[in-house]
Amino acid sequence: MKSIKTGIAIPINLAKEFEKIMKALGYTSRSKAIRDAIQFFITIHKWSSTTGEVAGAILTLYDHEEPGVEEKLTDIQHEYLDIIASTMHVHLTENLCMQIIAIRGEVSKVKALYQGIVGIKGVKYVQPALFSVHISPE
Ligand code: NI
Repeated sequence: MKSIKTGIAIPINLAKEFEKIMKALGYTSRSKAIRDAIQFFITIHKWSSTTGEVAGAILTLYDHEEPGVEEKLTDIQHEYLDIIASTMHVHLTENLCMQIIAIRGEVSKVKALYQGIVGIKGVKYVQPALFSVHISPE
């Protein structure tokens, strides 16, 4: 297997958290953990480079006390009525909320919605769980 060597700048807090989780999972090689992290990134975002229809969910974590965040999240979902099947809202803590947005639609539209959600100030975390919808002939 051919490899490339690369150097990257990572904020200290992120590096510390990575190290902590890596150790908790029993990794002894940082390179191996970073390779697995890259593989994980590719796996969860693979849908974005496919074509056709994808289905699944977009999980969003946000602080509802951040001004405008709920309104913006609602507004963007009303722009994509045709690809959103339903949204579940879970109040996690006094200020933290989770939305699970169930999706089915064309990749280009899902990508636009995803990017819109990621760009909203106050949204802390967005994770897609999306898969290609293949309809087999007969
Ligand atoms: Ni809530």
